[in-house]
Amino acid sequence: MSQILTIRTPDDWHLHLRDGAMLRAVLPETTRHFARAIIMPNLVPPVITGADARAYQGRIMDALPENSNFTPLMTLYLTEDTDADDLAAAHKSGLIHAVKLYPAGATTNSASGVADFDKVRGVLDRMAEIGCPLLVHGEVTDADIDIFDREAVFIDRVLDPIRRTTPDLRVVMEHITTSQGVDYVRGAGKNLAATITTHHLIINRNHILVGGIKPHYYCLPVAKRESHRLALRAAATSGDARFFLGTDSAPHTDAGKLSACGCAGCFTATNTMSILAQVFEDEQALNTLEGFTSLNGPAFYGLPVNETTLTLTKGTAIDYGEKIITEEGEVTLFDPGFSLHWHVTP
Ligand code: DOR
Ligand code: ZN
Repeated sequence: MSQILTIRTPDDWHLHLRDGAMLRAVLPETTRHFARAIIMPNLVPPVITGADARAYQGRIMDALPENSNFTPLMTLYLTEDTDADDLAAAHKSGLIHAVKLYPAGATTNSASGVADFDKVRGVLDRMAEIGCPLLVHGEVTDADIDIFDREAVFIDRVLDPIRRTTPDLRVVMEHITTSQGVDYVRGAGKNLAATITTHHLIINRNHILVGGIKPHYYCLPVAKRESHRLALRAAATSGDARFFLGTDSAPHTDAGKLSACGCAGCFTATNTMSILAQVFEDEQALNTLEGFTSLNGPAFYGLPVNETTLTLTKGTAIDYGEKIITEEGEVTLFDPGFSLHWHVTP
């Protein structure tokens, strides 16, 4: 019996597109299934000013496949020197939709991030005033904090104090990986939401480390123990509008991943919708898939939902291939560890 599900075209509320040859190679993987995406600003050098964002938006538009209606939703990278007036102007003009906070040193290309949170207090106040969301990479970077505890400690030491001091600031906890993250969002009001990636619904830390190290499952925040994965699946499929999809699809070449000091990131743009349909089917929650991928995000960002639709049809096993080829090298696609049967028709 074939199962068919038609939903509003999804958006990706957290995406790494990179630049240059990598941008040109990975962009079609997203535009095939998604209408819009929040574009991460962690380029080298980062997207810090309105002018940087305008230029990067132009490069993305130039790289779009022919006849694509995809809209990149630009963001700025918060630094201790961010100019609040420039930020406010970029937000007012509709150029940027959010500002990303990377604690300095937390992840790929985060060296220009924030070390002293008091230095960005004025900018956060201004963002609260103008309604510009803050997207947080929610991990502390203190050397004495265990990597598996960094999200929970960030909530207590950084995020909760910021939200108490600036209650009107709208915040998205990006790529949450813990039950503490889920519970913190559930216990908060309308100004807090969270994105959840595809891969964190599939893997726990055993997948990375048992039976040989699996660099393609290494990302940040790192996947946690199984109870946390189950909490994320429950949140994503619950229908609670404060949780929505942000794939964090983050391409690195195999040379960058398969090294003595491998890069963090899972590349999921290509097969995310097939994987998610299977996850939601397994959780007997196909009825909440559209909310997670297509409705909850626009509601939080105050944007209209997409008018177009996407159809998912269950059928024979799909072969998405193992890698995509780029001028910079091969990029390995995330392997969910089970075969995919949900075909995606835009
Ligand atoms: O795994 C990750 N990869 N986490 C991030 O926060 C950054 C991303 C990247 O840019 O590669
Ligand atoms: Zn990311």
